[in-house]
Amino acid sequence: MELIAKYHVETDLPIQKAAEAIAAEQSTGTWTDVRGQDNPLAARVISAQGSEVEIGFPEELFEPGNVPQYLSVVAGNLFGLGTLKKVRLQDVIFPQSLTRAHKGPRFGIEDARKILGVFGRPLVGTIVKPKVGLDPAGTAAVAEAAVRGGLDLVKDDETLTDQSFCPLIPRLEAVMSSLDRVEKETGKKAFYAVNVTAGADRILERAEEAVDHGANMVMIDVLTAGFSSLETLSQNLNVPVHVHRTMHGAFTRDKSHGISMLVIAKLVRMMGGTNLHTGSYMGKMAGETEENDLCRDALRDEWGGYKRVFPVASGGVYPAKVHGNLDGYGIDCIVQAGGGVHGHPDGTTAGARAMVQATEAWLKHIDLVEYAKDHKELEVALKFWGC
Ligand code: 3PG
Ligand code: MG
Repeated sequence: MELIAKYHVETDLPIQKAAEAIAAEQSTGTWTDVRGQDNPLAARVISAQGSEVEIGFPEELFEPGNVPQYLSVVAGNLFGLGTLKKVRLQDVIFPQSLTRAHKGPRFGIEDARKILGVFGRPLVGTIVKPKVGLDPAGTAAVAEAAVRGGLDLVKDDETLTDQSFCPLIPRLEAVMSSLDRVEKETGKKAFYAVNVTAGADRILERAEEAVDHGANMVMIDVLTAGFSSLETLSQNLNVPVHVHRTMHGAFTRDKSHGISMLVIAKLVRMMGGTNLHTGSYMGKMAGETEENDLCRDALRDEWGGYKRVFPVASGGVYPAKVHGNLDGYGIDCIVQAGGGVHGHPDGTTAGARAMVQATEAWLKHIDLVEYAKDHKELEVALKFWGC
């Protein structure tokens, strides 16, 4: 069995030669012939046409379970090869020996739904805003207001971890006690994804401490922390893991160079994320429809025996953008808004209600403007941000 990697390549070399250079550099070769190069671990060019190349890597090249090592093979030195002007890793088809070496999510879509008791509709979430600057009590007040408005998930922003202005454990305790109060009063349950991102030497200890202090979900910035840190969390914690993709634009934005979001989505599922920011169909970070579709399917289709993962539409989302995102992602997703909740003219609870109402309208196939006629918060939101 082989691992198959698909690349887009721009080069002045004949494409077959460029493909051979990638296969050699990433397996047994180098810039010149060396003894022992002609061996069974050599990668082979499966196809090289136009600018599209497929390379087959023998599975024995890989150390099962060692994701950094996989990346050094399929996404390593080749990006620096002077003979290639641009190269983008578009997709990776993993052999069973590697998918089997990872357990995937401990908590998938169905488990997260059971915890909340929410079925048959998308989850609606928010990012606490301002993204940094609030203290623990201020964070808890925003979280409480959002859940009172009907949201299912509240998360930290990607740059908030354990800074002195808002230390993690006091913040977590304040938020969880607010959410407990809301649950006791209203029966409404919600996740709080506390951002435990830290260096490899500290992340698990930090996450375990968070769970000991009542965390019901943790969040990791997977590209800055590393895929193996995500796997460490998902395999050791008894709570779902929310995965933020901050820094992805450095890899994914240039459509002819870098690494596709699809590859990142596959790795996150193998490593055990429960939710992954995949980009929105409409919003400030809107991706390309085709890439969003591929990521959505990679997270939810049958694959490797893994549990299913929620795609998260986030970044510049507000009520009028909900329909477009749900048309793309369907019911099994999380639609999330920060500014689009807390920037509502009547405050966070009203903003949360407006997002929930927009989601209800989509589920009922009712036009948003029509639905807003007897849903005040939505009406205000549509007037304020437009529809
Ligand atoms: C995120 O982390 O996804 C962003 O903070 C979203 O924030 P926004 O909804 O205000 O763009
Ligand atoms: Mg953010």
